[in-house]
Amino acid sequence: MPHLLAPLLADGVIDEIAGRLKSGKEADLWLVRHAGEIVAAKVYKQRQARSFRNNAAYKEGRLVRDTRTQRAMQRGTRFGQAAAEDAWKAKEAEALHTLHAAGVRVPRPVLFYEGVLLMEVVLGVGGHPAPRLVDAHVPRETAAALYADLRGQAIAMLCCDLVHGDLSPYNVLLGRSGPVVIDFPQVVGAAHNSQAEGFFRRDLENLRRFFAARDPALHAAAGDAREIWRAYERRELTPGFVPAQARGGNARPGRDSRPARSDPRHPPAAAAGRAAILSPRAPSATPGHARATGAAHPPAVSAHGPGRPPEVPRRRRRRRRRSSGAGRSS
Ligand SMILES: Nc1ncnc2c1ncn2[C@@H]1O[C@H](COP(=O)(O)OP(=O)(O)OP(=O)(O)O)[C@@H](O)[C@H]1O
Ligand SMILES: [Mg+2]
Repeated sequence: MPHLLAPLLADGVIDEIAGRLKSGKEADLWLVRHAGEIVAAKVYKQRQARSFRNNAAYKEGRLVRDTRTQRAMQRGTRFGQAAAEDAWKAKEAEALHTLHAAGVRVPRPVLFYEGVLLMEVVLGVGGHPAPRLVDAHVPRETAAALYADLRGQAIAMLCCDLVHGDLSPYNVLLGRSGPVVIDFPQVVGAAHNSQAEGFFRRDLENLRRFFAARDPALHAAAGDAREIWRAYERRELTPGFVPAQARGGNARPGRDSRPARSDPRHPPAAAAGRAAILSPRAPSATPGHARATGAAHPPAVSAHGPGRPPEVPRRRRRRRRRSSGAGRSS
């Protein structure tokens, strides 16, 4: 038994360890029983064993609320290092909450407790844990639709001011309701990290190149990431944004016919599908000092979240409103 799951057993947060799901570079995944449901438990490896541990580029712009802790983290004291470690682990749970609430197809977060993340097990066809995109057979006929779907997920994340930062076919699972994006501890704040654009472009290009190797028509989508980022900077990005090449070259800011994912009046089909597969229970009450991620980190849902990029000058804004008539909400 992994010793990092022992506190969860001792405190009654989990009842049983059902088995090991996967061992990754940054974490070990276990199947555990929590409140009668089998969920995935992500147990992060020690800092020394992780490849992202020293990458300051990902941490830029991440702030903790307490300034004393922030200073200790900057000075690198022992207390500061421990706090930085806690903050790193908590980041994935926070991101999952924000993104799941906004309708992005990510595993449903269940609980973050003692540095362990409990979340929905993503199931593939046949009811087994879903395969990674990189391990799956992707026929040419499905490549463009899968790319368009994942581009939509990346856009919806950006509408929450988040960039995955390590998006690739290794961090996408082919779930029954569509591709599911996983693995968020290195997530980057789009408005607070000076390298966010580079991360975003690399993320989307990783996926586009993977699919273009199956369907060469996707070479034409090489400009998608740049165009999406430009729309984000201009505050014109909505979850339904479609780049020009995918609309057949129309140069106007794109929207498809789907409702915005964060619009509660139109729950996304993917979220509805997921609810049908897995029990739709809300995170359950937890004993002791359990920290339900939802309670500790109220979801900063929506494209109107706190971390918007700098305001554009008022004159430009007025002109744009007159000419387009389109607000950010849809
Ligand atoms: N919620 C989940 N449901 C089903 N399988 C999962 C889930 N989360 C993770 N996995 C499986 O565990 C593997 C490792 O998870 P994750 O990518 O989050 O950790 P990691 O340490 O970063 O791994 P890697 O180094 O392989 O990227 C995934 O590739 C996937 O196969
Ligand atoms: Mg991974």
